Amino acid sequence: MTAAVLGVMGGSGVYDLPGLEDLREEAVSSPWGEPSDALRIGRIGDTKVVFLARHGRGHRFAPSGINYRANIDAMKRAGVTDLVSLSACGSFKDELYPGLFVLVDQFVDRTHGRPSSFFGNGCVAHVSMAHPVGPNLQKRIVAAAEAEQIAVHRGGTYVCMEGPQFSSLSESKAYRAQGFEVIGMTNMPEAKLAREAEITYATIAMVTDYDCWHPAHDAVDVAAVVAVARANADKAARLVARLARDFPAEREECPAGSHRALDGAIMTAAAQ
Ligand code: ADE
Repeated sequence: MTAAVLGVMGGSGVYDLPGLEDLREEAVSSPWGEPSDALRIGRIGDTKVVFLARHGRGHRFAPSGINYRANIDAMKRAGVTDLVSLSACGSFKDELYPGLFVLVDQFVDRTHGRPSSFFGNGCVAHVSMAHPVGPNLQKRIVAAAEAEQIAVHRGGTYVCMEGPQFSSLSESKAYRAQGFEVIGMTNMPEAKLAREAEITYATIAMVTDYDCWHPAHDAVDVAAVVAVARANADKAARLVARLARDFPAEREECPAGSHRALDGAIMTAAAQ
């Protein structure tokens, strides 16, 4: 059996996870370089929880400057089996309002130039990203949200832009016309790397703004993102705490195959 360990990747406005008991900090080093910050390792109920501030405490790393490989590798070394990404995002739908948590199930990668694989240097692997979010992990998040009476919207596509500038009006309208639900700057390549590391991944996309397409709302700016993200950080912590308290002791099989993503995915071995 593999013990379940819950990882939490805190995005903009989420630089800590209140409620961690037996807390210790561990600066994990990785062959991929330095993670964004020290891991904060503790326990909620009987579940081991590992928190990492994606941008570093004090928000020191821009989306393009985050060492996503080191962050995911550090989580893996700490034993994380299931990773919840808490991420601020803009919304392309009227009904996905600032303050709402959207449990996306798909990602579109519009980033460029970010190292996005652990493989390729003498060992080539192609993992499936057909279903990037773990359905069971997402179901558990839904149950935790219900128990805490936190409104969530289930399903949707998160388009990941490079940034750090926000979108132009034409880009925003084009993403909206393509049917994407939300936009952010960080979940790719994070979700890809989690899959390569056989870590089950799910995102709680915390809507902070309507980007710039909405005629009745101002174009997004940092002040709006920070204000809404801060106002929702406690809610996110409450959701995660409930999720952790109700988490199984043993790692569950993932219907999307994340627990065995490398089975049959290594091309180099298959070619021999
Ligand atoms: N993060 C929060 N709001 C965003 C937006 N509108 N675009 C990209 N990333 C975001």
